[in-house]
Amino acid sequence: MRPIEEIFQSTDFPDLLVGLGEPDDAAVWRLDEDRALVVTTDFFTPVVDDAYDYGAIAAANSLSDIYAMGGKPFLALNVAALPPDLPAEISGEILRGGAEKARQAGVVVGGGHTIQDKEPKYGLIALGFVDPAKMITKAGAQIGDKLLLSKPLGFGTTTTALKNGKADPSDVAEAVEWMQRLNKGAADLAREFAVRGGTDITGFGFLGHAYEMASASGVGLRFSYGKIPILAGARRYAQEWIFPGGSTDNRAFFGSHVKFDSQIDEPSQMLLFDAQTSGGLLLSVAPENLEPMLARASETEETLWQVGEVVAGEGIEVTN
Ligand code: CO
Ligand code: CO
Ligand code: CO
Repeated sequence: MRPIEEIFQSTDFPDLLVGLGEPDDAAVWRLDEDRALVVTTDFFTPVVDDAYDYGAIAAANSLSDIYAMGGKPFLALNVAALPPDLPAEISGEILRGGAEKARQAGVVVGGGHTIQDKEPKYGLIALGFVDPAKMITKAGAQIGDKLLLSKPLGFGTTTTALKNGKADPSDVAEAVEWMQRLNKGAADLAREFAVRGGTDITGFGFLGHAYEMASASGVGLRFSYGKIPILAGARRYAQEWIFPGGSTDNRAFFGSHVKFDSQIDEPSQMLLFDAQTSGGLLLSVAPENLEPMLARASETEETLWQVGEVVAGEGIEVTN
């Protein structure tokens, strides 16, 4: 089989700034000196029972890859696969959840495409603009930078507890609120404080996406466990070892690149591999911009946790 990188040579597409070679959160196409298009798509099966919430989470998640590039989304299309026997009011609620979330982001949904399928799937194709000189990539982290996270962890274990009938409704409500939240405010802060390295936390979990960033940037990342925000319910489900299959896969795939302090127990380690849906942005900010950025975040009521720093070397270290 002919690999994609042989079909598309990067020298043939000089305006495709991101998309060939090392994968990033979205493809970026240069339009002119100070404008580029950011293009991405994401869709998935339901993570929660409520149709409206599912639509809103899927839309927030789809837009997140544009925010992760430092971009501003403006246009989207629905991508949906819906069972033919699904009541019209349920499918309508999924699309309404997505549309209202897009509206909140300042994005218009200009159409889309729906097919029939046994299991529902929904998400967006999204377009945004970014200044090519200021875009954020996984490769932009520099030694000495501080690392910030915009949402807590624990969505995978919480939604799996829900599927297993073991979740406390208040824990689910808390996770749903976070998953629906746009990373727009975090991206605004990232632009204002000249962040160049970053990504969003989704299926590969916190450490999987962090490792991608470390590897693309040619640096090591050091996190302190106690500073990483984790939902209280998720800590309890982790102790019962309730994780989605993806979290186990993440640990198997990325575990060899991570060194944990021996005080950190197995469930706590697994929480950092937990597969997330619509997770936060992980941003790498220059040390001199850290305090002003945190101060602006608290002024604008945006959540940003300082979780670690960028160091020389490779791989990831998690201290207690
Ligand atoms: Co992403
Ligand atoms: Co994506
Ligand atoms: Co069509």
